[in-house]
Order: sequence, then C-alpha cells, then structure tokens
Amino acid sequence: MQYRQVWGAAFLVALSLPSASVGLGQVPASVKRDAFPWSNPSLSPDRRADLVMQRMTLAEKLRLVHGAGWTGFTPVDPAIARSNGGAGFVPGIPRLGIPDLNMSDSAVGVANTADEGRYATALPSALALASSWDERLAYQYGSLIGSELVDQGFNVSLGGGVNLTRDPRDGRTFEFLGEDPILAGNMVARFIEGIQSHHIIGDVKHFAVNDQETARGSADSIIGVRALQETDLLPFQIAMGEAHPGMVMCSYNLVNGAYACQNRYLLDEVLKKTWGFKGWVISDWGGTHSTVPAALAGLDMEMPGAQYFGADLAHAVASGRVPLTRLNDMVHRILRTEFASGVVDHPAARSVPDIFKGFEVAQRVEEQSAVLLKNSGLLPLDPRTVASIAVIGSHADVGVLSGGGSSQVSAPGGNAVAAKTSSGDPLARPPVWDPSSPLQAIRAQAPGASVTYDAGLSLASATAAAKSAQVAIVFVHQYMSEGTDLPTLELPGDQDRLVAAVAAANPHTIVVLETGSAVAMPWVGQASAILEAWYPGIRGGQAIADILFGIANPSGRLAITFPRSDDQLPHPTIPRPPGAQPTPLETILRPGPPFDVRYSEGLEVGYKWYDSRHEEPLFPFGFGLSYTTFGYSRLVAGMRDGALEVSFKLRNTGARAGEEVAQVYLGFPQDSGEPPQRLIAWDKVPLAPGQSKTVSLAVDPLYLSIFDTRRGCWRISSGRYRVLVGPSSRNHPLSTDVVLGAGAAGGCRAAETPATH
Ligand code: BGC
Repeated sequence: MQYRQVWGAAFLVALSLPSASVGLGQVPASVKRDAFPWSNPSLSPDRRADLVMQRMTLAEKLRLVHGAGWTGFTPVDPAIARSNGGAGFVPGIPRLGIPDLNMSDSAVGVANTADEGRYATALPSALALASSWDERLAYQYGSLIGSELVDQGFNVSLGGGVNLTRDPRDGRTFEFLGEDPILAGNMVARFIEGIQSHHIIGDVKHFAVNDQETARGSADSIIGVRALQETDLLPFQIAMGEAHPGMVMCSYNLVNGAYACQNRYLLDEVLKKTWGFKGWVISDWGGTHSTVPAALAGLDMEMPGAQYFGADLAHAVASGRVPLTRLNDMVHRILRTEFASGVVDHPAARSVPDIFKGFEVAQRVEEQSAVLLKNSGLLPLDPRTVASIAVIGSHADVGVLSGGGSSQVSAPGGNAVAAKTSSGDPLARPPVWDPSSPLQAIRAQAPGASVTYDAGLSLASATAAAKSAQVAIVFVHQYMSEGTDLPTLELPGDQDRLVAAVAAANPHTIVVLETGSAVAMPWVGQASAILEAWYPGIRGGQAIADILFGIANPSGRLAITFPRSDDQLPHPTIPRPPGAQPTPLETILRPGPPFDVRYSEGLEVGYKWYDSRHEEPLFPFGFGLSYTTFGYSRLVAGMRDGALEVSFKLRNTGARAGEEVAQVYLGFPQDSGEPPQRLIAWDKVPLAPGQSKTVSLAVDPLYLSIFDTRRGCWRISSGRYRVLVGPSSRNHPLSTDVVLGAGAAGGCRAAETPATH
C-alpha cells in the first residue's frame, strides 16, 4: 500500500487494509463480458460509455468521480477492501461490468510494492531516461512499467511527470524529463504509448507549473501566457497530440491566481477545448480545493477521497449549482477512457513479473543515459593494463542511490544500506540504495587487478587508498525526494573536499556522480574523468562498470544545463512563503495562504537563460562525450509540404562504434521575442567506425511556431531563421539560413487534432 510507504509510521495501523480478494477482476465471475450492450468492442468508446450511462443511477455516477478514501485523513468507503494496494482506488460498478480502478505510481517503475511483497524493476530516473534522447528507449521504459503494472493487477498508471526543470533544485527533478519542452514532450509521449500498449490507463502530470516542491500546495506560479504556452504547457500539448493519455493530473499549486485543479483556463479552455482532450482530469492527492468551482472549471475526479466530490457534489448537482450535464461529462470521460484503453475488454491478469527482462531494460537504459562529462584520455579503462583500482565513497561497495517520495520503487532485494529510523516526517524517509554494487561490477571487469574499497568517510584514509592505487574512482551522490527542494546544487556533506583530496592524491581520478539533478563541481579541473550516472537503477553498478571499461560507449547527453554555481540560476534561492515553512506533508494537508512564485525568466528556461545572457554554464544542455568522435557535413534545410526538412551527413570519425545525438536548433528572427535558439529536432544515430549516414529530419510546424497571445494561437512568423546543427546546444559545426513564410495556416495553426481512439 503506497501510503504506508509515503505517509509513514503514524498511519501504519490505519492503513493496513486487506488485499484484494477478487483480484483485479472486481467484476464478479458471474457477470459475463458479453453480457451488456456495451460489451461489443466494435462500438466506439463514446457509444459504449453512452450505453453504460443509460443504465447508471445518479448514485453510481457520483461514486465514480472520487476515490474510495484516504485512511487516516478522510472517511473511507468499505469497498477499499478490494484495493490492490496502490496509491489510489476507485470502486467500479460490478453490476454493470465496470471494473475497479487500481492506480499505482510509476514514474521510474511500479512504486512502493514491498509492503505487498511484490517485485518491481527499479529503473534509472526519468531524468536519466531523458538524457538518453532515445524515443524508442522511452517506449521500452514505459512498456516495461506497463507490463509490470499488469503483472501486479493495476490498471491505471500515475507516471508521466513532465514538469519542466525551471530550477534544478526542484526536489522532483529526477522524476521529470529535463528542461526542454520539446524533448520532454516527445519522451513523455513515447513513455505513455509504452505504458498504454498494455491496456493500462496512462497519465501525464502535474498540470501545470508545479516547478518547485517548497510549499507546493500554496505556491502561486505567476507566469505570462506566452511563456506558459511555450514552456510548461508545451510538453503536455505534445503528449496530448501524440500519445492520447487517458488522464491528466492537475497539480497542487496555483497558476496565475487559481488552484491548478480549479483553473478554468488550464483545464477547460486549453486542455479540453483547444487540445481536444477526451480523457479525465484527476486531482493530485489532496489537490482539490472546492466542489462547485473545481467541477465547473473542469476537474473530473477527486483523489484520493471524497472531501469535495462526495456528498457536497451530490448536493451541488441536486441544487443545480453543478449542472447534471457536467456530472455526466465527468462520468462519460472516465468510462470512454476505460473502453478506449482496453481496461474493460482486457482486464489485467496477474502474473510473475519477468525480472530478467526488467534487469536487462534497466541496464540498457542506464548505458544509454549516463553522460560522460569529462575525459582526459583515462577512459575507457583497459583491464589488461590497470593493476590496481581504489573505489571510494557513496556505498559503492553495496549499491546505487535512488530518488524518494511517491515514486520510490522498493529496492529488489531490499535497501542495500541499513536505513536509519524514520524521523517521523513521512516524506523525509531514509534514502533507498538499490543493491547493485559498482565495486563488484568493477572487480568483474578487471579480474587481474587489485580493487579496494574505502567508504570515503575519512579524508586521510581515502587519500591513502587513492595514493596506493593506479586509478581512483570516487563516487559522489546527491539525494532528492518529493516534498522538499535542494537548498543548493553543492554536493552535500564533505564530498567536494573528498573529491579534491582524492584527485590531489592520484592524477588518475575518475568521478562518478549519482545525482537526481545538476551539481556544482568546484573540483572539475582536477578530475581526469567525470561520469554522470544519475540514479542508475537496479543494474546501475553493472552499467557504470561497463561504461568505465568501454563495454558500452557512453551516449547520454545532458537534458538539463549544469550551472557553475547557484549564482547562475535565474533565482538566487527557491521562493518560500513568509514565516514557518510547511513540512512536506503539511503542504498537502494544510496548505497555507497562497504566495507568489514569479517566473520572471519567462521563456528563458534552462539553456535559453544562459544563451540570452551569454553566460557559460559548467556543462551545457545537450552535452556529452563519447569514446569515439563524429563529423558533421552537408547541411541542407528547406521547406517541403509545409514542414521544415533538415538533412546532414554524420560520420563516425573514430575507432570505436558509438552513438551520436545529433541536435538541430533554430535561431528565430530578431523581432520574434524568442530566446537565441530552440531545440527543434534530434536523432540518436548508431555508427560503426568509419560509417556515415545521411540524417533527415522533418520538423513539426508547432516547433517552429510562437504563441500569439493576442489571437490566442500558435503561428509561424515570416522571416529569416538560422538552422544550427551539432552535438550540443553550444557546439554547432553546421548552420544555414532558411526563410519561413507565415505558416501553412496563413497565420494561426489549427488546434491539435483531437484524440481519436
Ligand atoms: C504526488 C503525485 C502522486 C500522488 C499519489 C502526490 O503526492 O504529487 O505525483 O501521483 O501523490 O501517490
């Protein structure tokens, strides 16, 4: 049961609910699947939903639009006894063959399964996935989670976090897909497609501008409409147009003065009317703040209980303050999504998860995601010539770090580092270290070498270990968890001094970072090599060793900018309300009065901020090294059939096989008001030594457009643009000009094609 994990000891007893006794079947075996007029799968999901609704009572409709309760916080529906033990449960209507909805968090794997005694694959963080820039991999990542949700009897995923990294100190940076809206939007679209391919209802969250954790329940994100549309909303728009997620989760915070879960502009105007979203809007847990305003603004389901959408909604419908048509709309959205996703026709059948496949996918994702930030020739290590290695720090003898909060995946095999007793703050639980030992994996790669381990707790001992070895590998970490932001990007504790001391003792020092976000590196000049491994998942140790020894050639590229220090960020500190700070739990249960979080940097998110200011970050967006080299030539860019087409030749000019992430940026005309450049396309291309390939990319016209606030739509403005191609946002070996007309639509772009399934 997730909340046993998340909300901690105080609620343990209250939350001990019986497990499902009828499995996900929820619908008794006596009800035949072809028993109803709506059982016919050849009817459209809308028609099937209509047919069910003709037979539903008002009470049944009202019961479908909220969760069964939150034990310890709200009254609980006895039907919760059928819950599968996930974060959320909505009882179905057995007499009509409508299944229960069993929801599980699933950002980086099926979350918090230990209390049910179940296995789930702990994947590398979502930010790691984004750093692979590999859409096929994002699909496989989602698909693996989808299959494990099915195996465990869930039919609704709460994954799909796509809040932009406006500030890398945001405590959930590891759960999201980086700072670029187009990269994040495409990666989340593939992730959702992968999840939904298993007849799971997918989710995209947290809608919208939930870009900090500090006082998230009362933070009012103040942002201009153009910036809102072109940054934080764009990944959601891309996901809507391409992956048709069944649900959108509205966030805890306010946006321009209205709580996100009762924000008419966001939910009704943008999401439902403009983007044509046909699924349902689900509130974040405790993110509903009213009955009538929320219902009228477009919220369709309150979670996890019925504080506002239970008896109060029944009264509001009876009195006409919420029209019955609106309740019917909520119910229709939920039911049509159940039919469209297949959860009615293909109920989840529990099974033993394919652990071996999970391990294989986890390792592949990490090998594609780790970013080699520096290499002065030391890597890859050659096992034939390395006689001794000192491995130092961050529990590298036993495991690798993971991120905390509602997305926490229970470590298969248990936490590798004995957890300290919980402080009592449920969202500040001890970090979980996945039992995948880098030390053992390094030993396996270098069987002839003496490989020692030092915990890194004493500078003297670490230095001595480093001095006595040919190569030192020092592991450092930065823990992040939902509910709190990082105070700084500096590595916690004494780790900076540890790296500096080890590097001073041994000129062959490799630094491996296990971080949820960017970190400052005052020792950057001293290290021979730096590998960003992120939170690397259950096969992290093996993947790191494979990269260090060149079995895998690093091909990850940064999906967020690494600043030199906090001083380079748009805001010197994370905004917070005056007075005593709410604890993570209080930000949900008792959010204080709203306070402003002004996103004055507007469009200048991530690399666009540094570009606009002509500032050099520590490592730029899109950056990452390989053990081979690539050459770019023959750029051609032009319009064909209303779309921009870009092609160029890419060649592996080195001696090893490797993968390049070739990136295309667009420089807008001066008077457009845009930051200097925008990522518009990329491709991850595997090439053998000496091999070359012509890469051709067609760019979605949306990515060439700007949001016209006067007309309320996207349009391409005519003018001369610069097309820039290269291996990072700061390295463009190729560029050319292209003239764009006023867009195929002669101005405004038509709204996105509505979901059709
Ligand atoms: C988080 C959501 C999560 C939900 C259910 C909330 O605290 O913000 O991302 O899906 O809990 O666990």
